[in-house]
Amino acid sequence: MVGSEAAPFAKTGGLADVITGLSRYLASQGHDVRVFLPYYKRIAESGLEPPFVEHGKDIEVRCGGRTIRFSLRAGELPGSKAKLYLVDCRELYWRDGLYTQDGDEALRFAFLSRAVLETCQRLGWAPDVLHCNDWHTALLPLYLKTVYQWDKLFARTKTVLTIHNIGYQGMFPDSVLDQIGLNDHRAHVHHGDLKDGRISFLKTGVLHATKLTTVSRTYAKEIQTAEYGMGMDELLRTRSHDLSGIVNGVDYGDWDPKGDPLIPHQYSQKDMSGKARMKAALLARMGLSYEAKAPVFGVVSRLTSQKGFDLFADSIPIYLQRENMRLCVLGSGDAHHEKYFQWLRDTWPTKVGIYRGYHDELAHWVEAGSDVFLMPSRYEPCGLNQMYSLRYGTPPVVRRTGGLADTVQMWDPKAGTGTGFTFDEFSSHALAATLSWVFKNWADQKGWQNLIQNGMAMDFSWQKQGPEYEALYRGLAGV
Ligand code: ADP
Ligand code: GLC
Repeated sequence: MVGSEAAPFAKTGGLADVITGLSRYLASQGHDVRVFLPYYKRIAESGLEPPFVEHGKDIEVRCGGRTIRFSLRAGELPGSKAKLYLVDCRELYWRDGLYTQDGDEALRFAFLSRAVLETCQRLGWAPDVLHCNDWHTALLPLYLKTVYQWDKLFARTKTVLTIHNIGYQGMFPDSVLDQIGLNDHRAHVHHGDLKDGRISFLKTGVLHATKLTTVSRTYAKEIQTAEYGMGMDELLRTRSHDLSGIVNGVDYGDWDPKGDPLIPHQYSQKDMSGKARMKAALLARMGLSYEAKAPVFGVVSRLTSQKGFDLFADSIPIYLQRENMRLCVLGSGDAHHEKYFQWLRDTWPTKVGIYRGYHDELAHWVEAGSDVFLMPSRYEPCGLNQMYSLRYGTPPVVRRTGGLADTVQMWDPKAGTGTGFTFDEFSSHALAATLSWVFKNWADQKGWQNLIQNGMAMDFSWQKQGPEYEALYRGLAGV
């Protein structure tokens, strides 16, 4: 399992949760799972210093006319038997963030793929499947077919590439081909952007991986359309028989109010008293007054255009003016979104609380202490927060796209069915109409409790979702 993030060591979004959750599940089923991750500066600074692997020091890799050295550290993924390999290469990974705008960004992640293959060679270990995630590791299938083609060790190794977000493709000037040691293999790099002097990691991965997956059934269909494909729809259509959508699982070991160590008041479907206490605790932490009757709307998100916060402009202020409500926002990202939320806070200081930044514990508090979770995404490959909020008894408001469409059903008060509130059109108007509907339903607390119970009963565990990956791997390995 290869990727640029893995919880709890290196995380900016859901990718980290999925890599860890899926690996834990697979290991629990008896598979030999080994997770590869760069040994980022921040991991080292957190005090995690697993020992070097025997003969794993100063491994030399020839890459584009020069030699780069890395050392391999090995530990265990917490709560699991899966092995964790950390690629220790200070020259490349000793930076402030996980991702950078530096001139060697392409090399930083291309090198990760190389380090994985070099490690397998040194260990004499041939995986049945190398599972790559997003653009960062998307060149691995090509390296396997070119630079490492001579090595019989990999004769039976297949590759899976999972697209977690097609909005990030790893696009670089083609001059990096030299740096990353692929100049001689130019003919195998996806041709689409070469004539414009660029290469795309993700497109090249889509071209060469044995199988492709993405993280929900709906998104698998959407990315084959011009509207959602971000320039890759045509290529994906040519591989549609190899592409499937598998909805992400949830690691309820980390995300369940019943045993969540990060919240002070735990609760369950049977005893919800802790939820009211969490609401009071969250509001106090955000500097807002508590009123049982005023619904708390929560946001935990990267603040990017993907997440649909542009729709707030002509909807949320209407309700902040009219209704007795609270809004608690945890997030960071694009400056104009951050500024907008600050403006909401400044304008309605008794109703809006924000925390700008990344805060793992507070994310759990917002899930638990809110009454409604807002996630009006423009596009959403899967989304984890809506599934977390279902389990925390916090019905989500979502736009019916990608994984949101696959995991949230519209609440029908008459039938007593459904788990949240959904809308289709990407417009402030559609969001505003949905919020009216939310307030109407909030007024009927008996129905609301029913809605909460429906959501909490949903099961998106890896025990349920993981077997789909196992079936895919088994098909590839022929076992
Ligand atoms: P994405 O991967 O697109 O960001 P997901 O819903 O799949 O969206 O996953 C987001 C993950 O990142 C969740 O675990 C969420 O709690 C976490 N997260 C997002 N923003 C923050 C933040 N500011 N502080 C803490 N956790 C965050
Ligand atoms: C991406 C997507 C998100 C998905 C996550 C994990 O960051 O934006 O929808 O849940 O990856 O697959």
